[in-house]
Amino acid sequence: MADRTSPSAPQVLELDDIQGALLRKRPVPCVGSYLLLRVDSPPEGRQLLTRLLPHVASADRWWAPPGGAWLSVALSHSGLRALGVPQESLDSFPKAFCEGMAARADRLGDTGESGPEHWDAPLGSPEVHLVVASFAAGREALESLLEAVREALRGLPAVQLLHRLDVAQLPTGRTHLGFVDNISKPNVEGAGAPWSDRAGADDPTHYGDPPGVGPPVKAGEFVLGCPDQLGQLASQPLPDALRRNGTYVALRKLHVKTAEFRRYLKANSSSPEGGELLAAKMVGRWRSGAPLVLAPVQDDPTLAADATRNNDFTYREQDPGGRRCPVGAHIRRMNPRSSPDDPMDVRRHCFLRRGTPYGPELPEGQLDDDGAERGVVFLFMGTDLVRQFEFVKSQWTHDGNFAGLETEQDPLTGNRDGTASFTVPLHPRPRRRQYGQLPRFVVTKGGEYLFMPGIRALRWIAGLDA
Ligand code: HEM
Repeated sequence: MADRTSPSAPQVLELDDIQGALLRKRPVPCVGSYLLLRVDSPPEGRQLLTRLLPHVASADRWWAPPGGAWLSVALSHSGLRALGVPQESLDSFPKAFCEGMAARADRLGDTGESGPEHWDAPLGSPEVHLVVASFAAGREALESLLEAVREALRGLPAVQLLHRLDVAQLPTGRTHLGFVDNISKPNVEGAGAPWSDRAGADDPTHYGDPPGVGPPVKAGEFVLGCPDQLGQLASQPLPDALRRNGTYVALRKLHVKTAEFRRYLKANSSSPEGGELLAAKMVGRWRSGAPLVLAPVQDDPTLAADATRNNDFTYREQDPGGRRCPVGAHIRRMNPRSSPDDPMDVRRHCFLRRGTPYGPELPEGQLDDDGAERGVVFLFMGTDLVRQFEFVKSQWTHDGNFAGLETEQDPLTGNRDGTASFTVPLHPRPRRRQYGQLPRFVVTKGGEYLFMPGIRALRWIAGLDA
């Protein structure tokens, strides 16, 4: 639901009221912790929020948080209820958020091994009320922030810490599958954020419009209370205090089968180089981050490291048939990069994405699974869970029809069990190679739909502002 005329719409982004986790990159290197809490007494829950508020980092003082660590707070629908948010307001939230992620497992492809019945408790249960996320560049700063959270919990027996989920950037700086991630991201209009993770706060060269991603995406796609791509303003939730400067978050804990991925590459290639090419075809980038559209034959680490070039490409103009980057590759599915004259604006389906690994690295070259829990905890953030996260999961991840790929799924994150294939177009057309029996490389271990309010909205929920 949306309206175009709310007089209270902010003209510029109120960075001091937006939680930093929404608009700002995490520190590099990064360690973090998600605390999952249950609240059995509304006054104690509000008391906790009141105590946490001074620690919540806003987007404007993101570069220099007190104590060198960043804290953010988000709530589930049952959490808003547990803190005593009035029924009229609870009823005004979008249906998907009210139902929660586990209830919508089928449309997300969370079936079989990924089904909610197999999730790590307490994820997916109505007991998860509050998620407190902390990030820092070092363990000492993180632990001192966590000590402040423990202090905030003191004397509140009706608030239970259910679970602590630790994440940390791997020593390689890459994901568990060996890829550099977080290269491509939407450029949010008015956010004043550098478009390269390699930029510092005072590095003017990495501000403005990044090469290759087109004009900035309207802030309303990510920040409630701002106009979206269609110039519309969200009309829910109620009251107005909640609808300013917040967003929705799809939190996902994804287990990554690193050994399985390595074995598949080996079994389906005749040399290590062939295996690397297959891995790149599945993702759309070499493990270094160099995009296949610009480096189709061999890896180009110099290109990968050059933030002015490594995202500067489109598909329709430079690779319409997918001979460089297959149409079904992970990044091409997740962001088909429409051209200005395409009927569909893919920016209506983008979200802000933050992934941080958990678990130990599998030693280089090891092909046997060691049984360790490893993967990524993702935050996918935007103002419309259905049009953004759920659309990308249901249409672009698990359906091939949008790209003429019939029953194919995303080769990296699809939910098949040895039944799906992945097509790599070859030169000249219509030659192609089909890779079959793709196993499931990524298993959902849990998730939550959360509301990350603006800072004044947090105060309203805490009962501090009328
Ligand atoms: C464990 C699971 C996953 C792994 C290992 C993974 C890995 C990657 C890698 C290596 C990239 C390329 C880096 C970049 O372009 O920034 C990427 C890009 C991306 N991924 Fe994933 N990903 C995973 C799950 C997901 C999921 C579940 C979604 C969405 C529902 C997603 C959405 C995206 C998007 C939107 C991009 C950027 C595409 C672009 O703008 O070109 N990823 N991912």
